[in-house]
Amino acid sequence: MKTSAKARDSFKSNLGVILALIGSAIGLGNLWRFPYLVGTNGGAAFIVIYLLCIVFLCMPIMVCEFVIGRRSQANAFRAFEKLRPNSAWKHTGLLAVITCVILLSFYVVVGGWTIDYFVKSLRMVFTPQTDYEGVFNSMVSSSAENIFYTVLFLAVSAAVILGGVRKGIERTNKYLMSALAILIVFIVVYSMTLPGAKAGLNFLFKPDFSKVTFRVALNALGQGFLSLSIGCGAIMTYASYASKKDNLLKTTTVTTISDTLFALLAGMAILPAVFSAGMNPGEGAGLAFISLPYVFAGMPFGKLLSILFYFILFAAALSSAISLLETIVAFLKEESNTERHRAVLLSFAVIVVFAVLCALSFGVLSGFKIFGLTFFDFFDYISSNICLAIGALLISVFAGWKISKEDFYDEITSGGKYKIPKWLLGTLRVFVRYIAPLVVAIIIINSLIGV
Ligand code: TRP
Repeated sequence: MKTSAKARDSFKSNLGVILALIGSAIGLGNLWRFPYLVGTNGGAAFIVIYLLCIVFLCMPIMVCEFVIGRRSQANAFRAFEKLRPNSAWKHTGLLAVITCVILLSFYVVVGGWTIDYFVKSLRMVFTPQTDYEGVFNSMVSSSAENIFYTVLFLAVSAAVILGGVRKGIERTNKYLMSALAILIVFIVVYSMTLPGAKAGLNFLFKPDFSKVTFRVALNALGQGFLSLSIGCGAIMTYASYASKKDNLLKTTTVTTISDTLFALLAGMAILPAVFSAGMNPGEGAGLAFISLPYVFAGMPFGKLLSILFYFILFAAALSSAISLLETIVAFLKEESNTERHRAVLLSFAVIVVFAVLCALSFGVLSGFKIFGLTFFDFFDYISSNICLAIGALLISVFAGWKISKEDFYDEITSGGKYKIPKWLLGTLRVFVRYIAPLVVAIIIINSLIGV
């Protein structure tokens, strides 16, 4: 087929779409947030609740994002305008793009740390005697170092996006995801053989139902949104490049299963190693950048492992960052009718400003607070805890109430191409219309009143 210069970008294959979605989903959220949350929220009990949230709430909303994106074949802003012309719904699209800007601004700072630590591992600066807290603190508080790696990470993301959907996003994700799959299995196998590994597995998989509270359920759902990249138009944007022939339910299911599996593998790679070194896993952000380098330094082949681990962290962060950047670029490109490279340049310029503010919030701007939080923490808090949930709520309401039942089913079945049982479609619709909005609204109210 001959394509005109104006033809919209698209993925080459269904596998390309799936890998790009998995790339977006697997990120820093899986590698350090998930293992830590599991450990502190009741182990296997948390995993059970997390899985329930994923299946009954996150997946239906992911399907909605996919339906809206693929049906409209437009960027996150235009998608709502196309499906519901001249309505206030376009503001939902705008909110999604703004959420991406906020999320990406602090995400690239952590992305920068992954390059910094990768380079440090290559230079073999880590020894059992190193003061790891000191290394971390001096990295984040050094304006020059922090800004350099933040901008470098953003520049790499922009370079991928510059290559377009097929040559940039699709190809990069193919390489990165293959590398991730191989390396994580390698590290898990290694981790399992360490003395004391069992304590780590117990921490991860032993259910402690006494820890399960309403708060734990909220954490599980929030983690589900963050991990599956739901709520800010990233899935919508990738879906808009997907073929109408692709099986929507298969694509979203494979993405969800891969992301969840990877989160569990990350836990199985990290926690046994942390326990084996006799350290406390409840460190949050410090786990990846303070405890782990120490753990690696004391292990046989530790230098190699540390290089591999920071490469994994970098690859996961990069493939997630590009999905956020593409959502912004697609919006700018199509709404101002400009070339891709101009849209990339403009996005880069905007994000750099916010990202530098986030990077500096550990150093010279550490005293500058918004609602008592530094730029970095504030951006993290409003995007992960509030904007994503509001986005997810609006997306499910839109798909459930503003897209007709016929259109919704038509999109999911690719115009009847895929035979999906009536009961499944009906159940999905009930979740999208009633259950998901209700539960997500409860979560938003809870996080706003700070329970
Ligand atoms: N899913 C990614 C993670 O686990 C983060 C992420 C990338 C994201 N793109 C997103 C979250 C879009 C929400 C929306 O780290």
